Amino acid sequence: MTERIEIRTSQDVLRVRQRVRALAIEAGLSLVDQTKVVTAASELARNTLEYGGGGSADIELINGAHHGVRLTFADEGPGIKDIDAALRDGFSTSDGLGLGLGGAKRLSNEFKIDSVPGKGTRVTIARWK
Ligand SMILES: Nc1ncnc2c1ncn2[C@@H]1O[C@H](COP(=O)(O)OP(=O)(O)OP(=O)(O)O)[C@@H](O)[C@H]1O
Ligand SMILES: [Mg+2]
Repeated sequence: MTERIEIRTSQDVLRVRQRVRALAIEAGLSLVDQTKVVTAASELARNTLEYGGGGSADIELINGAHHGVRLTFADEGPGIKDIDAALRDGFSTSDGLGLGLGGAKRLSNEFKIDSVPGKGTRVTIARWK
């Protein structure tokens, strides 16, 4: 079952963090892994809000070959022109540190990003035991 959280405000980013923490606990992730996936979720939710102009987070438990959580962040913002550049540490089009996307990738077991300039961005991550 997938749960959707709309991301419109920084309060929604906090709600994403809280729900991801709860699901990670339900999946039986260790405290370290819970914190990894919550941190990644927080960065991606912030990007959805800041650059995407808002969007959604779909959160689901995975209970197959792996036990964990899968998260999809989607927006209909401007998209990312150069995904390789965006993933590089230190790359930011704002005054950010440019660590969010690369950090989220390193903290995840699965990481996929689809972005179409002018259409939007979708990032899916998973963290499992
Ligand atoms: N959802 C998105 N839509 C459009 N552009 C995005 C999106 N997410 C990331 N980007 C682009 O990728 C760049 C890198 O993102 P990243 O999260 O790594 O760094 P940052 O947000 O600039 O800084 P930090 O996250 O460290 O505060 C952003 O500066 C922005 O240009
Ligand atoms: Mg960021």
